[in-house]
Amino acid sequence: MNNPRIILAVDTPDLDMARNWIETTSEYIAAYKLGLEFFLKFGPEGVRKIREISGADLFLDLKLHDIPNTVASAVAQVTDLAPRFLTVHASGGSAMISAAVENAPLVEITAVTVLTSLSDSEIGEIGFAGRALDTATNMAKLAVKAGAAAIVCSPLEVVAIREAVGPGISIITPGVRPADHGVSDDQARTMTPEAAVALGASYVVIGRPITGLWKQGASAMAKKASEISEQINKNL
Ligand code: C5P
Repeated sequence: MNNPRIILAVDTPDLDMARNWIETTSEYIAAYKLGLEFFLKFGPEGVRKIREISGADLFLDLKLHDIPNTVASAVAQVTDLAPRFLTVHASGGSAMISAAVENAPLVEITAVTVLTSLSDSEIGEIGFAGRALDTATNMAKLAVKAGAAAIVCSPLEVVAIREAVGPGISIITPGVRPADHGVSDDQARTMTPEAAVALGASYVVIGRPITGLWKQGASAMAKKASEISEQINKNL
């Protein structure tokens, strides 16, 4: 598949399961996302094991957020794992993002804007002045200015953020659901993967709509990944 757009969320505490998922879907996947659940359980050694299974790009979703000096040092600890993407919270500010960028020059530092789990009223409660859309757009702008190469945002913010950051930045959106998925799981404001990409997202993060099919067999899982890829590419 040329130009795959799916980042598969490898959300499992089972390494063999992760291996199965990766081997089954590699043709359709741009990168595999390993998050806190995976990293806190298996650590760098687990990431190296995933590397041995697959030459695919890795998205290390550690959502770092601390003072610049600490983030600089934390980032330096994982550069040998060679993730393509490494997440930091944009709300850590420009100096923190720049510190990450400077200490991992070969990694695409990926700034997470407003968590899509937050409602507008929770955003106000935290103390951000604007609504989610304005706050996320501001964060994206400051992150790119500080050197971030990619932005994570809600699919509902893709248009505004693409306009704000231009074409050279990767925009990555979780919170997507294929039209035939039926249930929203615990995702609230969803959009289809093909709509998110058509609006300007570079990649979509998808987990359960694909990985949940493993219990029906590898071929069901591969078929779903293939269908979603096809749908995305048809709309481009
Ligand atoms: O299974 P599902 O497709 O919902 O998985 C989406 C992945 O994206 C999960 O790893 C989840 O933690 C992550 N994510 C999300 N919404 C965000 C940020 C990350 O669903 N706002």
